[in-house]
Amino acid sequence: KSPVKSSHETKNIPVLKLNGFVGFDSLPYQLVKKCQSQGFQFNLLCVGETGMGKTTLIESLFNSKVESQPCNSELKTVELRTQTTEVTEGNVRVKLRIVETAGFGDQLDKEKSAKVIADYINTQFESYLKEELKIRRCLAYYDDTRIHACLYFISPTGHGLKALDVVTMRELAKRVNVIPVIAKADTTCKDELSRFKQKIISELKANNIEIYQFPTDDETVRKENSALNTLIPFAVVGSTDFVTKEDGKTVRARRYPWGIVEVENEEHCDFVKLREALLRINVDALRERTHNVLYEVYRRDRLREMNMKDGDCGAKMMEAFQQREQEFKTEMECREKEFEKQFIERVNLKEEELKRREELLGIRHKDIEEKFQDEFRKLESHINTLLEEKARLEGRLTERGNGKKPRK
Ligand code: GTP
Repeated sequence: KSPVKSSHETKNIPVLKLNGFVGFDSLPYQLVKKCQSQGFQFNLLCVGETGMGKTTLIESLFNSKVESQPCNSELKTVELRTQTTEVTEGNVRVKLRIVETAGFGDQLDKEKSAKVIADYINTQFESYLKEELKIRRCLAYYDDTRIHACLYFISPTGHGLKALDVVTMRELAKRVNVIPVIAKADTTCKDELSRFKQKIISELKANNIEIYQFPTDDETVRKENSALNTLIPFAVVGSTDFVTKEDGKTVRARRYPWGIVEVENEEHCDFVKLREALLRINVDALRERTHNVLYEVYRRDRLREMNMKDGDCGAKMMEAFQQREQEFKTEMECREKEFEKQFIERVNLKEEELKRREELLGIRHKDIEEKFQDEFRKLESHINTLLEEKARLEGRLTERGNGKKPRK
């Protein structure tokens, strides 16, 4: 009999009470040790218009200098720039990959900008899928580039979302955990900021955009995450400068003529809350949702696209994958040929039509020319008649002047 039991059977499994220590309870420590020795990967995508403060916020979040060139606003298309680094805190090693957009918001075509980012996210899913389908796969050491969280930078206009934000967030929310943030929140006053937040949330709802909600199903983090969810979109301030206060404390802050805005002061902005939500409480939840929900949707759709069925598994799955890929390639080639044929046919048709029109124009031109010549001839003969008449009348007048009896 199969050792795997159905859920109906599992319900009937008797629960044994142990009389002595067996050792199962060391499992969580084993998992922690394994995580510590292997470290873990965390990939963060920052999407925002040029100069919105992406690099500065990353620098503030990870408290380390980020080497990045300011983006050239003449880029013809959005580019994604990646930086990888390793961060260690205590015994935990994090392989951090930061991906930033460059040139986002500088092009007119909003859909195209959104597509470049969505395609990037899909490409990372595709690479993982390819590795997963290999016969000799090595997922434990695989350099996982799937994006775990996306910080979407909203411009602090106070007027709500721009069309570009709606189009992009709609595309991103299907593929990645989107966490919206209001950039440069120090440029907006407190009341305006809370109205702005409400407006953004209602516009996201109206456009059916499902941004990430910090999970509240685990009771250890339920309270914290519920509070964090009410702060979305986080109003953040970033800075690369440090200021020493009157009490001697040095803080990361932005200096103004009237005082300073402290990045890590919860009275001044939501930076600390964002850092807690993103890097302390929910790192694992973000990674888990990426793998179990977002990647799963991508995987299912791709395998369906390749006509893969549930029976195709194991080594056969890779075979099926390659076969479907070949079929797909052949289909694409056929489509390309068909498209080329249709294109040539359409060009020929257009050329014929142009020729016909040219001929018609020639005929019309000839007609008009003939009519014109006809009219011209008629006018000429009329002028001649009039001239003759004039000469005759002049003759009569001269005769009258000479006393002659005018001729009849
Ligand atoms: P690109 O990479 O060129 O797209 O820019 P970016 O989005 O990475 O912006 P960056 O961090 O280079 O910041 C651009 C400018 O905005 C710099 O002059 C920063 O000092 C300033 N800046 C960054 N964060 C804030 C903020 O929270 N408030 C204010 N007022 N200015 C900020």
